[in-house]
Amino acid sequence: MLPLTEVSNKHLLPVGKEPMIFHPIRKLAEAGVVDVLVVTGAEHAGQVVAALGSGQELGCTITYRVQEEAGGIAQALGLAEDFAANGKVIVLLGDNVFQDPLRRHALAFLEQRSGARILLKEVEEPSRFGVPVFEEGRLVCIQEKPEAPQDRRCVTGIYFYDASVYDVIRGLRPSARGELEITEVNNHFIQRGDLTWDELEGWWTDAGTFESLARANALVQSSVADPAEPKSR
Ligand code: G1P
Repeated sequence: MLPLTEVSNKHLLPVGKEPMIFHPIRKLAEAGVVDVLVVTGAEHAGQVVAALGSGQELGCTITYRVQEEAGGIAQALGLAEDFAANGKVIVLLGDNVFQDPLRRHALAFLEQRSGARILLKEVEEPSRFGVPVFEEGRLVCIQEKPEAPQDRRCVTGIYFYDASVYDVIRGLRPSARGELEITEVNNHFIQRGDLTWDELEGWWTDAGTFESLARANALVQSSVADPAEPKSR
């Protein structure tokens, strides 16, 4: 998103009245997830820390890790292994802005014995995302940015994993775009029959392109029920 991202981290661009990344972190805090790890690139790490601080104002405690290169979402998640200390984690992409409270989904995952859980949402342009492939109602794989998507829903950047995810990540090789792909991680869990899914009910958007950033702003501003909106300021 040049030239904006020359001066600021993408995740600090304004969405509604707050920097983009405040939205997913508020969702975690509202769901009772108070230990949050933020993984950021080195370049704008100072700005990210300056914006979020200790997390106190957002109702959580934030720990930071620097991802040295743009090695993908799965690589970033790999940096959380010690932090997670064998526990289950929720992974939220910093450019995902959405309406549903996370609590229901988090509780469903806590009840799940093992594995992973993903959330789907119908979008206008599924080919920009990971897209599920269903055969006879069964999720058989996820295709990353397919040219001819077989579903109108995308895989949102809201993921749930147990501690076996780090072994999966260790076995990954970089994709054509040089990244460790979260879609490959999810396909591992699908293959071993240990991935559940659900659909988001409220609106969801990424905010990582100019068009979707404008959409995220419109959605946040028009959402009367959006708990991320501060009541007065
Ligand atoms: C990533 C994932 C993709 C997912 C999307 C959600 O895409 O690779 O599967 O649908 O986040 O925002 P990326 O942001 O890397 O293009």
